[in-house]
Amino acid sequence: MAKFIIENNGPLKGEVTVSGAKNAVLPILAATVLTDEECIIDEVPDLKDVEVMCSILRCLGAEVKTYPEEGRVSVKMSSKVNTDPDKELLQKMRASILVLGPILVRENRATVWLPGGCAIGERPVELHYKGLRQMGSDIEVDDSGKVSTETDGLKGTEIYLDFPSVGATENIMMAATLAEGTTIIENAAQEPEIVDLANYLNKMGAKVKGAGTDIIRVEGVEKLHGAEHSVIPDRIEAGTFMVAAAMTRGNILIKNMLPNHMVPVIAKLRECGVVVEETELGVMVKADEKPLVSTDIKTLPYPGFPTDMQAQFMALLTTVEGSSIVIETVFENRYMHVAELKYMGAKIKVDDRCAIIEGNKKLKGARVRATDLRAGAAMVIAGLAAEGKTELSDIYHIERGYEKFVEKMQGLGAKISREED
Ligand code: UD1
Repeated sequence: MAKFIIENNGPLKGEVTVSGAKNAVLPILAATVLTDEECIIDEVPDLKDVEVMCSILRCLGAEVKTYPEEGRVSVKMSSKVNTDPDKELLQKMRASILVLGPILVRENRATVWLPGGCAIGERPVELHYKGLRQMGSDIEVDDSGKVSTETDGLKGTEIYLDFPSVGATENIMMAATLAEGTTIIENAAQEPEIVDLANYLNKMGAKVKGAGTDIIRVEGVEKLHGAEHSVIPDRIEAGTFMVAAAMTRGNILIKNMLPNHMVPVIAKLRECGVVVEETELGVMVKADEKPLVSTDIKTLPYPGFPTDMQAQFMALLTTVEGSSIVIETVFENRYMHVAELKYMGAKIKVDDRCAIIEGNKKLKGARVRATDLRAGAAMVIAGLAAEGKTELSDIYHIERGYEKFVEKMQGLGAKISREED
């Protein structure tokens, strides 16, 4: 098993370019199931999760060509989609559930398997089922995790989501593009990745309106066609580099970042005393001008503070002046990094969804684990500012979601290397 070795090498300096968004490219690749014409996707990050999604598409009958150097993937789904894809493949990644809606609306049946993925709470998918059932599908889930679905044809209807689930919004939106009549999704997720998917679907000939608000309206059409699309920049990757710069009291320039997707992260960094400036070249993050201070954070669906930035921000808060409170409202069990940060000397108390962080701590290098993707990024950030060597295991989580993470960190002057055990 590979691990990262991280050592403090002072403040991060220099510039880094953000890759295409993992959470946008996965649903966009799933959307290519909706047509048998060729789709070309650009700004595709070279990630394990993308590889898995491409394998799933091949298993569904697609011809998939990948050009990692150019960041391009081309997909041509066959005219008949395999409705019974491989169990092991689907269970490799939670986002595999995103192919359910597209297969079902094309073939009127689909068998998928409950996904695995990051172990951050229960992560049920009943809202995906609820929406598809309301559109006229039978859905049965057995004890082995098998999900069997069948319909006489999906029909548009009004669907209220009890929680603005990102995945459920995407699955229903994709199914609705080819359903008969109009689907209205109420209390829809508003993440930028939903907007990117809607833009792509519209390029394919779909009629999706309102993405980015809490009501999305999809008028079903007969057929979708192939289309070309460039994926938006990854706001969580950008945020991770911003926090890494703050953690090392560094000064970096981040290119290919959309600050309007990152309003709460930028606001919270500024509250800590980090200077964030938009320039023509990119976003400057300067944490070398004054001591950083505490702030409180509550994670929320977009446009609130992203749960995917909670762990990294918590690492930073262990080192600033004063105490901070973090409240995680999106996932019920997303504090697995707390134990790891404590091994490094952090002082954190957790009570249910609330964590109290005592700042001013000098972290010490330790042997720690990446317990999930973002928790892993948090441990790298902690290691960059800790005294001594940090050995981070289970880094496959990080490689699922950050493109060239080691190389990009090294480019900013970080002392980090990947070693095979
Ligand atoms: C997506 C992101 C993930 C991010 C999350 C929240 C992708 C590939 N992943 O995950 O990085 O952390 O959004 O911003 O885009 N829920 C239910 N029932 C459902 C669906 C969800 O109760 O049917 C709950 C989940 O248990 C969780 C919360 O809603 O507590 C958020 O889940 P959701 O928005 O669906 O996240 P994902 O789409 O899985």
